[in-house]
Amino acid sequence: MRVDIISIFPEYFAPLDVSLIGKARHKGLLDIRLHQLREWTHDVHRTVDDTPYGGGPGMVMKPEPWGQAIDAVIAEESTPPRLIVPTPSGRPFTQEVALEYAKEPWLLFAPARYEGIDSRVMAEYGPRLRVDEVSIGDYVLAGGEAAVLVIVEAVGRLLPGVLGNAGSVADDSFAPGAMAGLLEGPVYTKPPVWRGHEVPAILLSGNHGAIARWRRDEALRRTAAKRPELAARLAGQALDKRDREVLDQVSHPGDAPAAETT
Ligand code: ADE
Repeated sequence: MRVDIISIFPEYFAPLDVSLIGKARHKGLLDIRLHQLREWTHDVHRTVDDTPYGGGPGMVMKPEPWGQAIDAVIAEESTPPRLIVPTPSGRPFTQEVALEYAKEPWLLFAPARYEGIDSRVMAEYGPRLRVDEVSIGDYVLAGGEAAVLVIVEAVGRLLPGVLGNAGSVADDSFAPGAMAGLLEGPVYTKPPVWRGHEVPAILLSGNHGAIARWRRDEALRRTAAKRPELAARLAGQALDKRDREVLDQVSHPGDAPAAETT
């Protein structure tokens, strides 16, 4: 996959040289190219922002440098990229969106500083580049760069060959499959006792069926406790009798004896 990022802070993306994404780049699975937006300005101050029409606080990013930068990048190949513009007013970025992006051969990111990019830029490239304005959460960052890091990591790990263990992707809390819509439960490794805390005995039992059931129970409990809105959505899905017992137990803890966990 090719990824281009146009920003006034290309140095912000140094973390993309590290760890999983850094390795994917070195293996040639991910071709990330950074561009300084100010290269497409033509005044001595290399100005990229101006005051908003209609008044109001803050500054808006000027359309001309963005237009020239995007034109220059997209001219490099015959098939255009998908243009992703991170903004708190975009559609929510979810695992589903990450899976959608992972199918694209080429993504172009346009992270903004200040109050955002002049809206005519999104209008200009809208259908041509399938412009997608996305938000990584209901909070306001100082700029879209951190959102780009989040999105590139979420998408990059889904690309074939990036994760050593393909099962890790299938097990993701938000991936489609048997554990779809469930948060992952607790995990443990050696030693079996640490500072007096024991690993749940079932995980040492070698009984794979019982372990799978225990993991599902824990996932259901955690989802009901921490994300009740996700648990509510499970109600319409294929839940077995035991699933429903575990969920009932979380919502009415006094009604039944504590569920067996070992
Ligand atoms: N830019 C500022 N805040 C953001 C957010 N929550 N998501 C994406 N881009 C942003």
